[in-house]
Amino acid sequence: MAAVNGGSESQPAKHQEVGHKSLLQSDALYQYILETSVYPREPAPMKELREVTAKHPWNLMTTSADEGQFLNLLLKLINAKNTMEIGVYTGYSLLSTALALPDDGKILALDINRENYEIGLPIIEKAGVAHKIDFREGPALPLLDSMIEDKKFHGSFDFIFVDADKDNYLNYHKRLIDLVKIGGVIGYDNTLWNGSLVAPPDAPLRKYVRYYRDFVLELNKALAVDPRVEICQLPVGDGITLCRRIS
Ligand SMILES: C[S@@+](CC[C@H](N)C(=O)[O-])C[C@H]1O[C@@H](n2cnc3c(N)ncnc32)[C@H](O)[C@@H]1O
Repeated sequence: MAAVNGGSESQPAKHQEVGHKSLLQSDALYQYILETSVYPREPAPMKELREVTAKHPWNLMTTSADEGQFLNLLLKLINAKNTMEIGVYTGYSLLSTALALPDDGKILALDINRENYEIGLPIIEKAGVAHKIDFREGPALPLLDSMIEDKKFHGSFDFIFVDADKDNYLNYHKRLIDLVKIGGVIGYDNTLWNGSLVAPPDAPLRKYVRYYRDFVLELNKALAVDPRVEICQLPVGDGITLCRRIS
């Protein structure tokens, strides 16, 4: 996604004044990243799943290939073993997670829609990683509540990826902060929300973009001041905010 740069020749935008390192200034640059560093290294099953998903009418929902690569590397860097994903769709981020985990790694995968997961499942099975996945169909919140009631789940997850209903992210955060271990990471996806966060109030936005924008703004504000986590918001994909639990 192209970065929102703003500013003019006479008046540079604030972020350009010191140490300006904005990377994605054009779609061509993004394409360059994909073609140079992402697609040539994309595991064959992920490529197959990406191509199958591209034919699905809701393909806009899929995790991008560069973000899939990022998640895969991140999980290896933090030696993740026990993970959770909220928002599976056809399973691109799920597969990138499953491929990164050791053979006895686990992913609790939650989605209200099993049908879309089943589009990707044969590819996940062929890749030999389906045994790591415990898919549960249904809304995530009640399941998180039941896990919160059982102390054995507290502090048990190394990594949690949240890519579902944006209007519940703060509700998820209230619960996930207890379920992720200290030193573990929660990744919230879409935290730049298609660049709409900095659009003027009267900008013509698609209805769902406008609806969820306020929730994403609230989430970003809350994470920025949450003393229980260290955070880093990255312009990968549609923006991902990593939260490392520290207390
Ligand atoms: C953006 S997609 C997930 C994309 C996925 N991570 C990927 O790599 O393709 C969002 C998903 O969240 C699911 N979802 C929406 N509301 C949910 C809820 N309350 N609980 C669990 N999943 C939900 C949707 O069914 C949809 O599959």
